[in-house]
Amino acid sequence: MTKKEYSFSSKTVRFYFDASIVSIGQATGDKPVIILTDENVYENHRAQLDLYPVIRILPGEENKTPATAGQVIEQLITMGAGRDAMLVGVGGGVVTDIAGYVAAVYMRGISFGFVPTSILAMTDAAIGGKNGVDVGVYKNMVGTIRQPDFIFYDYSFLKTLPVSEWVNGFAEVIKHACIKDAVLFSMLERYTLHEYQSDPTLVAELIERNVDIKASVVSADEFETGDRKLLNFGHTIGHAIENLHHIPHGHAVSIGMVAACNLSEQLGHLHFEEAARIVRLLARYHLPVDVDTDHARVFEVLKMDKKRKDDAMQFIILNKIGSASVVSIPLTELEKHFKEIL
Ligand code: GLY
Repeated sequence: MTKKEYSFSSKTVRFYFDASIVSIGQATGDKPVIILTDENVYENHRAQLDLYPVIRILPGEENKTPATAGQVIEQLITMGAGRDAMLVGVGGGVVTDIAGYVAAVYMRGISFGFVPTSILAMTDAAIGGKNGVDVGVYKNMVGTIRQPDFIFYDYSFLKTLPVSEWVNGFAEVIKHACIKDAVLFSMLERYTLHEYQSDPTLVAELIERNVDIKASVVSADEFETGDRKLLNFGHTIGHAIENLHHIPHGHAVSIGMVAACNLSEQLGHLHFEEAARIVRLLARYHLPVDVDTDHARVFEVLKMDKKRKDDAMQFIILNKIGSASVVSIPLTELEKHFKEIL
C-alpha cells in the first residue's frame, strides 16, 4: 500500500493505492464506520463488507435520485448514526456521489471516505468533491462540493467488474488524455482494453496517472473558476443525451467528446487528423462515437446545463491532443452547428 496526499481548500485528502479493503481501518481510524454500497457490489464482496453496518441501494444511474438519498438518510437515523459517524461509499460513481452528498447534509455534515470499485469511479467520479443526485433528466442538478477524508484503492474489486463497466470508465481516461496528457493518449493507442484488463501492473499505473491528472487539476481550481472547467470536455452534450437516451455515462461522454471535437474542428481550433485520431481511440476502446437522436430535445436539455451563462454556453473545445480551452459560445451559434456536430 502506498499513500499520497492532495490538498484542497478545506482539507488534505489521503489517497491509499494498491490497498486491500481488509486494511480500511488504517484510513478510517477509530470512527464508527457505516458502509454504503449497491446490491451488485454487496453480492460480490459481502464477506468483507459485513464486518461493518451496511446500507445497500439499488444500482444504476436511475437510482441516483433525491429519493434514494432520502432512504439512506432514514436508514442512518434508524441505525442511530451520530455526528461522529463516518460514511464509507464502496462502489461506482452512483454510490460515491450519494455517499458524499448524504454525508454533506446528514446532521449538517459527517465524515466520509470512498472505496471506488469501478474504473470510472477510481479515475474520476470519486475524486474532486462534487457529489450529488440527478433530478429527472437533469444530471447532478442538486449537490455539494465537499472533499472526502480519504480515497482507498483496492484493485481487486476490478476482478468482478463487468467488461461493459471497463469500457464505460475508459471514456474518462481518454478524456484526461485529450485535455491534459498527449503521452497518455499515445500509450492508450499502443494498448488494448484486453491488455489493461489482464495486466494488474499496467492498470494500476494507468489509474494512478489518471488520479494525478484529476486531483492536480481540482486541487489547483476546486471551485471551477478556471482549469477545472476543462474536465467538462464532452460532458455538455454528453449529459444532455445520457438520461434522455438512458445510456451509460461513458457512452454519453464518448459521443459528447466526438461532438466537441467536431465543433472544435468547425471553429478552426482542431486539425481534422487529430479529431480522427480521437474517434479511432474511442472506437478502439469499444465506445460509441455517434447516436441517432432528437436534436431539438437534446438542445432543450442542454440549455439547462450548469455551464450556461445568460445566453451563452461555456464550452470546452480542443486545440490539439493534450490541450483544451474554454470558449463562450452563444446558444444561437451552438444551435446553428448542432445538427452537423452531433
Ligand atoms: N465527484 C466528481 C468530481 O468532483 O468531479
